[in-house]
Amino acid sequence: MDEKNRGDEKWIELRLAVPPAHVEAVAAFLADELGRGVVTGAWIDPEAPPELADVRAYLTPAERAGGFPGRLEAFLRGLRRLYPGFPGAPPAYRELAETDWSEGWKRDFAPFRVGRRWLVRPSWAAAAPRPGDVILQIDPGRAFGTGSHATTALLLELLEAVWPAGEEGAGRPAVLDVGTGTGILAVAAARLGAAAVTAVDVDPDAVEAARKNARVNGVAAVVRVVRGSADAASGAFDLVLANIERNVLLDLAPLLAGRCRPGGRLLLSGLLAAQGGEVAAAFRAHGFRIDREARRDEWCALSLVKGA
Ligand SMILES: C[S@@+](CC[C@H](N)C(=O)[O-])C[C@H]1O[C@@H](n2cnc3c(N)ncnc32)[C@H](O)[C@@H]1O
Repeated sequence: MDEKNRGDEKWIELRLAVPPAHVEAVAAFLADELGRGVVTGAWIDPEAPPELADVRAYLTPAERAGGFPGRLEAFLRGLRRLYPGFPGAPPAYRELAETDWSEGWKRDFAPFRVGRRWLVRPSWAAAAPRPGDVILQIDPGRAFGTGSHATTALLLELLEAVWPAGEEGAGRPAVLDVGTGTGILAVAAARLGAAAVTAVDVDPDAVEAARKNARVNGVAAVVRVVRGSADAASGAFDLVLANIERNVLLDLAPLLAGRCRPGGRLLLSGLLAAQGGEVAAAFRAHGFRIDREARRDEWCALSLVKGA
């Protein structure tokens, strides 16, 4: 059994209402403290961005009884001092039966379209495809990446925009997806016709979810899922994808650059629009030029080409 206690132990759901600009900082704090994924939502709908984002994390009773709540309060007090508009509402804790995990996701995750052709749906919901749709059947489990998050949607859109049209056989790209989460981008690349996709993630739950999603989408023969980071893959790829937050992308810059072949392409997401310039500069220093930038809400994604 791993640290997330898949057995009978009850989990506690922590919910916070966070201004969108601070979601990344709060999520990073929670992920560092608890060592597991954080769920953010509600504000991701570009049609109706609410004022506050819903940030959820999950902890064990032992973690709640330990020092975590005090450290979280201190962190929130710091944010309120720095940003007087930061909400004063205390975090809400709720005991969760193990079965609530899957049921909660099922309530929140309905089929939706992204870009020109992606139709994303969970296994439990029917969806009516239009001609030309590519269906991505994604069951999130405990991993990040249903596709509804703006950072994932931006990368799916960039992926179809830059995909080498009409290339068949040996011309099909080899793809590396770093921080694969549910495997949604890896599955998408495979559905577009990648010759091979290597998907890596440091989170064992993500590895499990990505393998399952590759299987149910019929691309398990093309998608290889490995636990680890960019250094868990070897060789150089035609196309490298990474939807991870700014700090990790900056840390991984040399590795990501090394995994991209000369003339190959790197698609980056997970960045607030304000961080795009800094990250672009860091990758320019590794021999990339920026050829596209996509924006949605306060997020941006970059398409970079490596010098030959
Ligand atoms: C924002 S999610 C993206 C998931 C999916 N690729 C998507 O686009 O929806 C980021 C993922 O990166 C993983 N991750 C974080 N740091 C990483 C690292 N240094 N190397 C590999 N994966 C990492 C996390 O576990 C998480 O699953």
